[in-house]
Amino acid sequence: MTANDQSSKALPRILTGDTPTGRLHLGHWVGSLENRVRLQSDYECYFLIANLHAFTTRADKPDEIARDAIEILKDWLAAGIDPERSTIVMQSAVPAITELTWHLSMLLPFNRVMRNPTLKDELEVKGLVDKHSFGFPLYAVGQCADILAFRTALVPVGEDQLAHIEMCREVARRFNHTYCDVDPATPDDKHVEAGGIFAIPQGLVGRVGRLVGVDGVQKMSKSLGNAIFLTDTPAQVKKKVAQLYTGRVDMNAPGDTNNALFQYVRSFIQDPARVAELEDRYRRGDAIGDGHIKAEVAQAIDTLLAPMRERRAKYDAPGQEHALEDMIATHAARANLVTGETLGRVREAMKLSFGARGARAALRSGR
Ligand code: TRP
Repeated sequence: MTANDQSSKALPRILTGDTPTGRLHLGHWVGSLENRVRLQSDYECYFLIANLHAFTTRADKPDEIARDAIEILKDWLAAGIDPERSTIVMQSAVPAITELTWHLSMLLPFNRVMRNPTLKDELEVKGLVDKHSFGFPLYAVGQCADILAFRTALVPVGEDQLAHIEMCREVARRFNHTYCDVDPATPDDKHVEAGGIFAIPQGLVGRVGRLVGVDGVQKMSKSLGNAIFLTDTPAQVKKKVAQLYTGRVDMNAPGDTNNALFQYVRSFIQDPARVAELEDRYRRGDAIGDGHIKAEVAQAIDTLLAPMRERRAKYDAPGQEHALEDMIATHAARANLVTGETLGRVREAMKLSFGARGARAALRSGR
């Protein structure tokens, strides 16, 4: 089934995405990617590569950003994003998103944007509090535009992104109220019925909101050097899992199943009965060593990654660049159709559609 068949059946839409900053790891998998792969059959899915957002911190590195954007696409396809069913959105290839960012930015008080906790954290962690560009905070508004340009119902994300989704919901309500006469008291799920252009989207967090890294302490992150990448070899996986520090030395000592190792057990061992058994024996200290459990976890991670490695090899093969570029272009055309329609309606609602008679007539007759 193609994305077009899906849209004719009007499945609810999903949009989510990643900023291209390098290879994806297991934290991305359990936090969101796994959800995305699963949801492809029940939703019309749009997966966005936020290459414009990458310029917030690397405006001087266009080559690197272009390379990372392709890397992330390969990681997605390897992970099971199916280009026959879902649409890949290269952000820079969809101008409607940029225009919508401008319009939404007028509806959000500057101080409201700067109070967004995800944005605040990021500025602090990156040491940019008093030296970020003018454009940096704009990416958070841009993220609202990414979502709303597709009139999205559901946004599967990691926990850290929920503050952005909340801001997106706010600005969607405000837009519908300001330009579409939707009563501000309208319940969120009735905005479209009430004449709003935008549905109020909902966030959806994956089963593991925050996967701990192999240091056993911090959230898994490429920059902290504690990540298992989707492209890691079996030997790398084994070595990294073996590093997981638990502090337990005696296989007969009662263990704490809230530790990092057991987060991995629950995240990656597929058989619930085996997970329960391991938990039970670990708690009681029933002759079960951490080394043994780590080997089993590494095995489970390999089972997950093996088909990804295989698919990835296909896209890494020489001559594949053109196929990937073609894919990006065809998918951008689909994305431009959907977002172009949104923008047509937005411009009309905002009384901006001068010189767009043809488009307006087409939209009217389409109603
Ligand atoms: N900010 C997100 C991240 O870095 C990426 C992103 C951009 C996104 N636009 C989005 C996520 C829209 C969900 C919806 O992870």
